[in-house]
Amino acid sequence: MTSRSVQIVPSILSADFGRLTEHVQEAQAAGIETVQIDVMDGCFVPNITVGLPIVRALKASTDVRLDVHLMIERPERFIDAFAAAGADVLTVHVEASPHLHRSLSRIRELGIEAGAAINPSTPTSAIEDVLHLVDLALVMTVNPGFGGQAFIPEVLPKVTRLRRLFDERSLPGQVQVDGGIGVGTIAAAVQAGASQCVAGSAVFAAGKSVADAVSDLLAAIK
Ligand code: DX5
Repeated sequence: MTSRSVQIVPSILSADFGRLTEHVQEAQAAGIETVQIDVMDGCFVPNITVGLPIVRALKASTDVRLDVHLMIERPERFIDAFAAAGADVLTVHVEASPHLHRSLSRIRELGIEAGAAINPSTPTSAIEDVLHLVDLALVMTVNPGFGGQAFIPEVLPKVTRLRRLFDERSLPGQVQVDGGIGVGTIAAAVQAGASQCVAGSAVFAAGKSVADAVSDLLAAIK
């Protein structure tokens, strides 16, 4: 793994939606630059969460970058809408995207960062031919749909393979992990090659301040 700084990307799924802007601003005050918004449609994953209004609201009320993770069927239908709503990063799942190359190309045409995500049972081969079109490859370390699930360590070789492919091909893409990231798992994910670690419950529902939760995660990497 090349020497890369590690970015903690809090997922708002576990944030307090009764005071979401305040909670996100707390993360920003703790040095967080990007938060992840988990969009779920109840079809691609067995849960329904948030959509365009939340992206618009956070874009208007905070200064953090918005990494929008589309866990929805046929995400290509909403790429332009989420870009217009304020997404800075838009990640689509290969399992939901029959035309992944076209979707990633469109995201980049719109001037925002593109991410391709793979679920725990999806091999890296599913996205290896589009790594030149992504700013991040998201390796799910849980089966998507809910926060607070257990980390799946057997996906880590996929993190390492993708990191190696980005480096071998001199591509700028980063490997992002998402799900079950906490003080007990983040070091293994970073050691495997992740440079972006999405954490929901470990940041927003850890029973401590966001600032303490973030610094505990960073300390656990060292
Ligand atoms: C799971 C979501 C994750 C989730 C992470 O489907 O994509 O972003 O919010 O939550 P934790 O960090 O609690 O596992």
